[in-house]
Amino acid sequence: ARLDARNTFGVHATAPMLVEVADAAALPELFGYAMLRDGPVLVLGGGSNLLFAGDPPGAALSLTAQRIEIVEDAGDAAIVRADAGVVWHDFVLWTLGHGLCGLENLSLIPGTVGAAPIQNIGAYGVEVRDCIHAVDAFDRRSGSFVRFTAAECAFAYRDSLFKRDPEHYIVTAVEFALSRTPALKLEYAGIAEELQAMGIDGSPRASQVAEAVIRIRQRKLPDPALLGNAGSFFKNPIVPLAQAEALLAAHASMPVFRGAGEDSRKLSAAWLIDQCGWKGYRDDDGDAGVSAAHALVLVNHGHATGAQLLGLARRIAASVQGRFGVAIEPEPRIIGASW
Ligand code: EPU
Repeated sequence: ARLDARNTFGVHATAPMLVEVADAAALPELFGYAMLRDGPVLVLGGGSNLLFAGDPPGAALSLTAQRIEIVEDAGDAAIVRADAGVVWHDFVLWTLGHGLCGLENLSLIPGTVGAAPIQNIGAYGVEVRDCIHAVDAFDRRSGSFVRFTAAECAFAYRDSLFKRDPEHYIVTAVEFALSRTPALKLEYAGIAEELQAMGIDGSPRASQVAEAVIRIRQRKLPDPALLGNAGSFFKNPIVPLAQAEALLAAHASMPVFRGAGEDSRKLSAAWLIDQCGWKGYRDDDGDAGVSAAHALVLVNHGHATGAQLLGLARRIAASVQGRFGVAIEPEPRIIGASW
């Protein structure tokens, strides 16, 4: 099965088999088949956090169920359950349309509901773990269904239990705890300015915050439908406080973020890469490049292979290491090669 249209980089890859599962209840029986039970299985969501540097060695599987339902409604607070196959941004709009707040800052993130907890998607000061009530998954080792509370998911910056052990669990549905009283997070640079530019002052509605986020993302991040990409290609590196201070002494304009504990700081991978001159770069002999709008986004100008994109990513990381002594690591999952 060709996977070219199932990864937002739009690179060529094939899997020996692609299974579409309309009802997660079929998973125990399906995983009775030897190829699925014993081999590696790649679970595909929107394909927006993947780089095929080679072909996946085993079957690819996609969950297509699309249910969204309010499972508990306590007036102000509600629990909403969505199947893994629901497109993330459609889900965000559904919740806002039902007057439920909490996910507005996570508007327009590519991918599916099922993928959201895996790398704990985040943007504009919010991470999805802030709103996750529970995650339902199929445990491939025991062949049964399991339910995780948010605490059990071991969420961290772009990380979770599911990401650390990708062959173990298949996320089938996610439950979110949302509120009818907005608790808007507007501190992240850019949101307040964008609301102002939209002519909204005072207290915005959650849907207006979503609109501001959509406008910022559309301006800063290339649309994968037009230019292949997987969002941020590198995680923002977390370094010891002393190293952050030494770098700041040498580079006064370097962004430094808190939020990674008292003894460490998060740096901006985009800034580090930008300083190394990569923004807008394009391979002479191919279509792999770096977005001209955002230094953290690798792009496929047409016919780049996954291996070419991975090669470029390695060169970028080596130059950041050489210039700043900071190791940056990929955010997307790399299939068919190791970092
Ligand atoms: N910057 C540059 N050059 C650039 C772009 C940015 O120097 O080309 C610097 C600027 O100083 C800017 C800083 O980098 O202030 C941070 O940039 P931005 O606000 O775009 O955020 P980011 O750290 O690059 C992270 C997430 C994004 C998320 C945004 C907004 C990661 C790896 N990425 O990017 O998530 O949308 O914050 O909250 O944490 C994704 O994960 O795929 C993703 C797009």
